[in-house]
Amino acid sequence: MRLLSNLFLLASIASASSTDQWKSRSIYQLLTDRFAQSPNNIDPSKCTSPLAPEYDIRHYCGGTYNGLISRLDYIQDMGFDAIWISPITAPVEYETVWGVGWHGYWQQDIYGVNPHFGTRQDIKDLVDECHKRDIYVMVDIVANHMGPYNNTVKDLAIFPTGYDWYYPFNKTEDYHNFCLINDYTNATEVQQCCLGGADSWLPDLNTENPEVVDALNNWIHGLVEEFNFDSVRIDTFRHIRPSFWPEFVKQAGVFAIGEVADTDAINTGPWQDVADSVLNFPLWDALGKVFRDKDRAPMYNLTQQIDTNREHFRDTLVLGNFLDNHDQPRFLNYTTDPTRINNALTFLMTADGIPILYYGTEQGFNGHPEKQYGAGDPWNRDPLWGGSGYDKTSSVYQFVSKLNKLRKMLKSNYPSFFDTLMQNIQTDNSTLTFFKNPLTISISNAPFENSKSVTVPKGSYSGKEGYILVNYLNGDHVGKVQSDGSATITIKDNNPVVAYPKHICPV
Ligand SMILES: *[C@@H]1O[C@H](CO)[C@@H](O)[C@H](O)[C@H]1NC(C)=O
Ligand SMILES: *[C@@H]1O[C@H](CO)[C@@H](O)[C@H](O)[C@H]1NC(C)=O
Ligand SMILES: *[C@@H]1O[C@H](CO)[C@@H](O)[C@H](O)[C@H]1NC(C)=O
Ligand SMILES: *[C@@H]1O[C@H](CO)[C@@H](O)[C@H](O)[C@H]1NC(C)=O
Ligand SMILES: *[C@@H]1O[C@H](CO)[C@@H](O)[C@H](O)[C@H]1NC(C)=O
Ligand SMILES: *[C@@H]1O[C@H](CO)[C@@H](O)[C@H](O)[C@H]1NC(C)=O
Repeated sequence: MRLLSNLFLLASIASASSTDQWKSRSIYQLLTDRFAQSPNNIDPSKCTSPLAPEYDIRHYCGGTYNGLISRLDYIQDMGFDAIWISPITAPVEYETVWGVGWHGYWQQDIYGVNPHFGTRQDIKDLVDECHKRDIYVMVDIVANHMGPYNNTVKDLAIFPTGYDWYYPFNKTEDYHNFCLINDYTNATEVQQCCLGGADSWLPDLNTENPEVVDALNNWIHGLVEEFNFDSVRIDTFRHIRPSFWPEFVKQAGVFAIGEVADTDAINTGPWQDVADSVLNFPLWDALGKVFRDKDRAPMYNLTQQIDTNREHFRDTLVLGNFLDNHDQPRFLNYTTDPTRINNALTFLMTADGIPILYYGTEQGFNGHPEKQYGAGDPWNRDPLWGGSGYDKTSSVYQFVSKLNKLRKMLKSNYPSFFDTLMQNIQTDNSTLTFFKNPLTISISNAPFENSKSVTVPKGSYSGKEGYILVNYLNGDHVGKVQSDGSATITIKDNNPVVAYPKHICPV
């Protein structure tokens, strides 16, 4: 009987990948080359001295799938039940003005795998090992373009020729005619022209050509099936016409989340109609302005963004929320104030949507202090083995672990938490309080002197009359449920409050 139920468990984990099953998860985003080296081939000085020299960080640093397997405990102990890995496909190997394609986004052969990261079998072993731990694997994929076409190899003027090094797209008609994107507000340009600059640009696949469309659909179907991935994170999603995506997403057959790097919800929202989800760039922008920037915007701006997002997105409960990523300056470059970081993390991990933490944040990575734009690419891509390494006692690691533990408890005891929209209770310049049954959450972005009290409406806690409200983050009693199911909580300083009615979760 026990064996039987274990088998059922494994079977259900292995096939679990729909949107509903992703809602309650939290994702750790890592770059395969930068997360961990193979246990039998460790070079701690690689790309660290103590910060990576520019040449090094634009080349391979030695992270592998085996390295990742050897460090899954680190991710699991932080409470994450999903990882997002770099594209697995075989990249162009040549040198460009931006270094080589260690990040995986510059594919040469979409059917091959990146030999620097390991073998096909290593990827399967990684996915198996993750599934044994109930960790889902989201693979990054690129359908818009191939790796950079080097201007020094073939002259721009004789384009389009010389696609012979790409596979399977080796013909002129597999690509759009050459042009560079100059105006990112012009959809025609964004969808038809190439990313990059005149030195090195990414040949844009002709996704109006039925042969290319078929090849991409077959490819994604086979890729997800062969490696048993649970999700695809789709790069440069808005760079292909919307009507391309529904069939592609269907062929992937798993939760699909698109990258639409536009902070205006009016533009980003409609893209969710052709996928399960998109990355929440509008929220990222608001979180940065409210928590990260030196001159912080008032909390109203965050409340406004939440409302705006609801107007423009089909389903805000499944959007991918983040504070930073491999393309954006590291959040911690702007502030090392633990109160601000903790408030931002509390929002990230409890608000509507799927939280995504970018690797390194848990170790306080903040970019390269001596470089111009040292917070951004490539300085936001340091190897994790530099700095404090895999320290499980760091303050952010500990705080995130605690919030993930809360999510696990909610998943067991209050699964509807992940299907319920947060309800705004009160916003002032510096504090936002929202109710998301069973939690009342209060976050602040500036110190304030007098204590504040916030009342969640009657009925909110019906059935829990008389319960004490306890701040999950520090154990403080912050209020009590009244006989009408309302509750008033008191906020004393600008630390985050995650109030829960006591009895549901042992402190
Ligand atoms: C590509 O261009 C860069 C910069 O111009 C040059 O250093 C590199 O050698 C070129 N690569 C090839 C394969 O020609
Ligand atoms: C493209 O690839 C196919 C399949 O490998 C091959 O038969 C064909 O000759 C190639 N075409 C070009 C233009 O290189
Ligand atoms: C958008 O770009 C296309 C291609 O470059 C151009 O033909 C068109 O005029 C542009 N549209 C606008 C509104 O600028
Ligand atoms: C905050 O919102 C107000 C009102 O909509 C707006 O005027 C202001 O520019 C916003 N601040 C930031 C930093 O976006
Ligand atoms: C952020 O990076 C800049 C360089 O771009 C650096 O001058 C600054 O000290 C960094 N800030 C923090 C808090 O690390
Ligand atoms: C809120 O902020 C605005 C603009 O930053 C300011 O004018 C107003 O006095 C502030 N209100 C309070 C209650 O602090």
